[in-house]
Amino acid sequence: MSTNGRPRVLSMHTLLDPGPALLAEEAEVIEFPSNAPLTEDAIRRAAEGCAGILSQVMDPIGEKVLSTPGLKCVSNVAVGFDNIDVAAATRHGVFATNTPGVLDDTTADFAFALLMATARRVVQGDNFVRGGHFKGWAIDMMLGVDVHHATLGLVGIGRIGRSVARRARGFNMRVLYSDTNPLLPDVEREMGVQRVELPVLLAEADFVSVHVPLTDKTHHLIGANELAMMKPTAVLINTSRGPVVDEAALVDALQQRKIFAAGLDVYEREPEVHPGLLGAHNVVLAPHIASASVRTRSEMCAVAARNMVTALRGGRPANLLNPEVHH
Ligand code: DGY
Repeated sequence: MSTNGRPRVLSMHTLLDPGPALLAEEAEVIEFPSNAPLTEDAIRRAAEGCAGILSQVMDPIGEKVLSTPGLKCVSNVAVGFDNIDVAAATRHGVFATNTPGVLDDTTADFAFALLMATARRVVQGDNFVRGGHFKGWAIDMMLGVDVHHATLGLVGIGRIGRSVARRARGFNMRVLYSDTNPLLPDVEREMGVQRVELPVLLAEADFVSVHVPLTDKTHHLIGANELAMMKPTAVLINTSRGPVVDEAALVDALQQRKIFAAGLDVYEREPEVHPGLLGAHNVVLAPHIASASVRTRSEMCAVAARNMVTALRGGRPANLLNPEVHH
């Protein structure tokens, strides 16, 4: 509690408008010290006396943080919440919330951007021209693989996977998916997607795009064996979470040309990037920006702020991850 009786909220990082104004309606916001490390100890120290924490994907929110006396809510400014120990939050009676729904199309746009860039070697072409190597048209220059009429394999068909599937229709792609939660047959028909087991998807897809959350079950879901099942002409796209793909195995697959290319927005040990990826020409690397459009990032901040304000007022936040905490 602050001296003026308003609950104190720790904001771990910059928030975009209208997030700060929404929070200010209910709370006194304090900033995480910019020179402090992103460790649980440092977050716990900064959170003393706070009723809420506005966290982002790099912030480890585990037992140590969640046991802070008086903490009521951790509001993650992201749809993914693998940085939060939700079971520990529940044990300590702390609400955990995320921001689903507002970033599906923006993230799907970016998955497609990576898909196009890798297939058609856009970044390599850009480097080539800037490097002064473009001396004239050549029939065999920078040959890529076709996107149109190709087979897309979606590993996971939640909200974002479905948004990617919708884009694929415009390219006349055949869309396969694997998911432990199958879509209803009517929805499959309406979307023009077909469910197959992961090995079949990997063997048949020209593009494999990963859209599962990171859990114990999905950690290294795509490893050496899975990469070996892919076609040598296939492309892997990952806009979900880095540890879903075994990065060392991917580097090997790219270096040995076991697959054609990869497009990555996320990494196993962010912000570290495997040196083998930095040295590979057949991979396009982005700094975890799939949801980074002005409008979407602002909406994520607004949703996270509203979740926090509702929790501080004693209500049930719209995007509560552990409803068992709300009585
Ligand atoms: C998320 O929301 O989980 C992303 O990784 C950041 O947009």
